[in-house]
Amino acid sequence: MSGELDPRLLTRAREVVAAITGFRDDAIATEAMERVMRAELTRGRSAGDLLGELLHPVSSLSSTLARAVLVGETYFFRQPEHFRFIAQEGVPAALRRGALALRGWSAGCATGEEAYSLAACLQASLPHGFPVEVVGTDLQESSLETARRATYGSWSRRESAPRLFPLYVETGEREVTILPVVRRVTTFAQANLLAPLPERFGRFDFILCRNVLTYFTPAARDAAITLLSRTLNPGGLLFLGAVEVDRVPSGMVREGTPELQAFRLLAPGEPASPSVRTRIPESVRAPVQARRPAPAAAPVRVAAVPPPTPSRLHLNALERIEEGDEVGATAVLEALVRQAPDYLPGLLELALLRERSGAREAAVPLMRTLRTRAERLPPDQLVDGPEALPARFYQASADAYLNQGTLE
Ligand SMILES: C[S@@+](CC[C@H](N)C(=O)[O-])C[C@H]1O[C@@H](n2cnc3c(N)ncnc32)[C@H](O)[C@@H]1O
Repeated sequence: MSGELDPRLLTRAREVVAAITGFRDDAIATEAMERVMRAELTRGRSAGDLLGELLHPVSSLSSTLARAVLVGETYFFRQPEHFRFIAQEGVPAALRRGALALRGWSAGCATGEEAYSLAACLQASLPHGFPVEVVGTDLQESSLETARRATYGSWSRRESAPRLFPLYVETGEREVTILPVVRRVTTFAQANLLAPLPERFGRFDFILCRNVLTYFTPAARDAAITLLSRTLNPGGLLFLGAVEVDRVPSGMVREGTPELQAFRLLAPGEPASPSVRTRIPESVRAPVQARRPAPAAAPVRVAAVPPPTPSRLHLNALERIEEGDEVGATAVLEALVRQAPDYLPGLLELALLRERSGAREAAVPLMRTLRTRAERLPPDQLVDGPEALPARFYQASADAYLNQGTLE
């Protein structure tokens, strides 16, 4: 049981999982691969038999392996700025374009909290009875079963994401159930983001694909984004996670602040303006005769969209670390250090994460940068972060880390 696994088996398992999910090699947990393989060997199968099965691109073993690496972490109204933007900007713009129904897709929906949040957001932002439809898709069938049950515990509700719109009722001590009105318009289906969504799903006005592409190789991420954008209606909006792309996807323009990671599909013939726009221009709107009188949107009282500050991105990374999502945390911290190189707590956090994952060679230069930047500040100056600490603290932390090596 505890003996060495044939390395060819593990290599092939990683290749198969990467091909199915689009995941980068470092996002494929070795322990997950080993667990599945050992379980199969314990059931009496031989390594040769397993290797043989993995030579076929589609098999029950390859699906089990892929399922073992998927991370299904999610909660209601995660990244609330996206829902605020949809309510304040996206829905009114779609109504001005003359939309007669609004459709949303939660792509990589895990257990469904995101899909239901989107449905509730659209319903609350539209006049009563305006047709709304939301589809949630994921590779993980067991997550979709949870989504269809529509009953959630306290882990699906987080203080960092307020309940922006009516979504659920309490049905137990710690249990909530999605409101029937929201549930009625939300459906779930299994789908892989690396394959085109079947035609029968139609086109969408809003797509949320967040905290999924973080794990993908650049090629898989680009392919998935292309497929997602093909299912948008002209003028439709795509929302990605905080650090999932570093450029505007082709055929789209950025909406809102860069941190929002919101992109609008251009209408045929519409030039891609280099300027950041927050409103859909007249040229994209449907001709007047094709529109029915736009119903007045129900007043939605929501706060202005706050751009994520370095501390907020930092908190996002800390949440991921707590959830055991080291890959996601590293991606967020790397983006944070790029965007805010003077934010000392970000440098320290990333260096420590690198150290914990055994990459000392990556931690050392970060600690050196931290020391240089901290030395430039008056020692008692408080440095903003999840906790305000004096510059002295950061300098001492870097010193302690860098001097460790010389003591050994
Ligand atoms: C971390 S969850 C994110 C859930 C939700 N979007 C959110 O932001 O809260 C990522 C989800 O993406 C799904 N996923 C990963 N790779 C996928 C793929 N190639 N096709 C479809 N879903 C995928 C996983 O199964 C998982 O449920």
